[in-house]
Amino acid sequence: MNILHICADPNPTEESISKQLAVTFFRTLAERNPDVDITNVDLYENPPPFLDYQAIRGFWFPVFIDGHQPTDDEQLAGTYGIEQGEIFNTSDVVVLTIPMWNFSAPAILKAWMDQVLSPSVAFNMDKHGTTPLHKVRKLILLVSSGEVLKEDDERDALTPLITSAFGEAGIKNISIAWADGQYAFKYTDSETRKSMALEAAEELAEEVIEELAGIS
Ligand SMILES: Cc1cc2nc3c(=O)[nH]c(=O)nc-3n(C[C@H](O)[C@H](O)[C@H](O)COP(=O)(O)O)c2cc1C
Repeated sequence: MNILHICADPNPTEESISKQLAVTFFRTLAERNPDVDITNVDLYENPPPFLDYQAIRGFWFPVFIDGHQPTDDEQLAGTYGIEQGEIFNTSDVVVLTIPMWNFSAPAILKAWMDQVLSPSVAFNMDKHGTTPLHKVRKLILLVSSGEVLKEDDERDALTPLITSAFGEAGIKNISIAWADGQYAFKYTDSETRKSMALEAAEELAEEVIEELAGIS
């Protein structure tokens, strides 16, 4: 089984709750299933460029304009998305480690999504819809937020972004471990909330093994 881990948090692990969820998730996985092949992409070590005009032409114009063939320059501009897309497309499970920023995901993750969730990279697109080019069966979100809120809160712009964008790419099996209320100066139960999220991360690792049993 191939797992791609995308980390969108710049903080060191000891100061990052979402990264601590990731540590727990992958430790549990390693304890249960040594056959898993994990690729780690730290977006702060390998940052995505913002999409520019050439990259948009390369990815999207073949959808918009019948017969458009990307030029060498347009293909070059899409290099990051194409390279990351190759890893993405061969993954069975994708794990996103995400701190909540301004009630959404950090811009660096959105930039990665704009590169990878593109036509001819993660899917083909025509007037009938999208056809996946990937084999991702499950998406795991490891989230931390300062405020007390979850995906049913109208302030949450993080899970709608992820579920819509990855859903369009054909990925609808999404599970979340979310440590909310991590503003310890404000919420006296932040440690309890963190412990519950760590347990949820452990359970997600076991769920992944069960759901994807048989994939090697
Ligand atoms: C730039 C920035 C923006 C933030 N915006 C929010 C927010 O909109 N809502 C919220 O609940 N917490 C917000 N926080 C708090 C973080 O979500 C919280 O500290 C969380 O634990 C960060 O994840 P981490 O510990 O894995 O780094 C923000 C923190 C930063 C640094």
